[in-house]
Amino acid sequence: PAPGWTVEADAVVVGSGIAGLTAALELRTRVPRVLLVTKDRLASGSTVWAQGGIAAALDPSDSPSAHLVDTLVAGGGLCDPRAVEVLVTEGPARVRELVARGARFDRAPDGRISLTREGGHHADRIAHAGGDATGAEISRALVAQIEAVRGDPGIEVIEHALVLDVLTGPPGPDGRPGPACGVTIHVIGEGQRDGVGAALGKAVVLATGGIGQVYRSSTNPAQATGDGIAAALRAGAVLGDVEFVQFHPTVLWLGAGVKGQLTLVSEAVRGEGAYLLDTDGVRFMPDVHPMAELAPRDVVAHAIVRRMAATGSEHVWLDARHLGASFLRRRFPTIHERLAEHDIDLGKDLVPVAPAQHYHSGGVVADLVGRTSLTGLYAVGEVACTGVHGANRLASNSLLEGLVFAHRAARHISDEVARGALRHGEPSVRPGDEALVAAAARGRVQRIATDGPGVLRDGPGLRRATTALAAVPTDAHTRLDDGRLLAAPQLAEWETTNVHQVATVLTAAALAREESRGGHARSDFPEQVDEWRLRLTARLDEDARL
Ligand code: SIN
Repeated sequence: PAPGWTVEADAVVVGSGIAGLTAALELRTRVPRVLLVTKDRLASGSTVWAQGGIAAALDPSDSPSAHLVDTLVAGGGLCDPRAVEVLVTEGPARVRELVARGARFDRAPDGRISLTREGGHHADRIAHAGGDATGAEISRALVAQIEAVRGDPGIEVIEHALVLDVLTGPPGPDGRPGPACGVTIHVIGEGQRDGVGAALGKAVVLATGGIGQVYRSSTNPAQATGDGIAAALRAGAVLGDVEFVQFHPTVLWLGAGVKGQLTLVSEAVRGEGAYLLDTDGVRFMPDVHPMAELAPRDVVAHAIVRRMAATGSEHVWLDARHLGASFLRRRFPTIHERLAEHDIDLGKDLVPVAPAQHYHSGGVVADLVGRTSLTGLYAVGEVACTGVHGANRLASNSLLEGLVFAHRAARHISDEVARGALRHGEPSVRPGDEALVAAAARGRVQRIATDGPGVLRDGPGLRRATTALAAVPTDAHTRLDDGRLLAAPQLAEWETTNVHQVATVLTAAALAREESRGGHARSDFPEQVDEWRLRLTARLDEDARL
């Protein structure tokens, strides 16, 4: 829609998880003016919910090369080793910088950062805070730093601002979009910054997080509606690895009808020694993988789903009782509290768990400095596809990715701005009507995605999902000659449109990949196939076709 107001900065950062906050803080010291826009409050989004921790080779007995090997193995042959190398070698320094920024990690008695283990890791390298409240502590420290400079002329923060579209300059002779020059945002504010406005920048950094709301149940908060990936797709950017969705093995199961954001029971609980039992009380993971309950996450999630089918049950049990009630309460205070709300005691009771959507390994294709296929558009954190996760992300590598690549993107952007390689551009107005999916269709789309490109997929199910998604009606919002929309869409319509677009591209990629690998399991193609050791990419052509 045509913006009612405009704000201009050198760099526009969208999102306030670990990646967005880091990018904004780094940029603020290097370019004259930064704009940070976020969909809710600064301290909201997925980072706050991260329990287990942040992985980095911090112990003298560990090494970045050992972290690299574990990451590549978990990624099922699809990681970009150059990106992983960057992640694991720069990770420890970035974590130490987080400490310098005020993040208080849990410490061992000798004062060193206390490290634990999670699935797929062969060393204790997960730093945690508040026991199981790592993301909340990191967010607290970074938000405090932003709040401290919020009044400075060099940075502006706009909260309650949903990103709608990435603005691009006039298309080139090949019909491909021009450089990104800003975003349109819908702000629920007051006064000057209210309604739809344009945030123009020499660079736009998408740090919008994941896609959890595409599914009926997820560990992600309500904000995770795939806004950045959908906006990048509409602008003509290339997406990659979209079919690789991570389902966390141990999410509190409260009944088939319970949907939305569900309670995560951190992998760190298994890291401390908890077992998985089927509903007959049999421990089944030792027969599935040599690392048993600490096998890579996709292996554990798929084994649970198969076990549930074999025993005709909708969940399995997590058994931590042998670890001792007082240790568990001390080590996992957040989980303890959340389970207590459902009258479950981690120290005394078996916990019913089942896999639920947790993380999107794919996203907007980005290089080692966050550059996407559109000049001026950067993607960092979960929204990006840098190649560090491949087909399946290693536990606790997500906070690290956000931290490392946001830092790199910020440095690169500031260098490019300084040498005049990134400049302000004039957005071109897109003709035609805006077709949006009604907010009421959200549940329908989520059901289709859960039944189609869910934990276990097959060709017939994915074809049914393709047809069903294409049949979801859109409301045409007519555009007037000056670019304004006749009737202003509501925020929930934009979000549901994003959820629908992500579900559509995800289903197409899942249907195309005729093998099983990492977070993509096809019961009709159960083997990993060498010829499929490649990245699938997607983009819209000039007629907005996939
Ligand atoms: C967890 O605490 O199990 C989640 C950690 C992660 O997703 O990396």
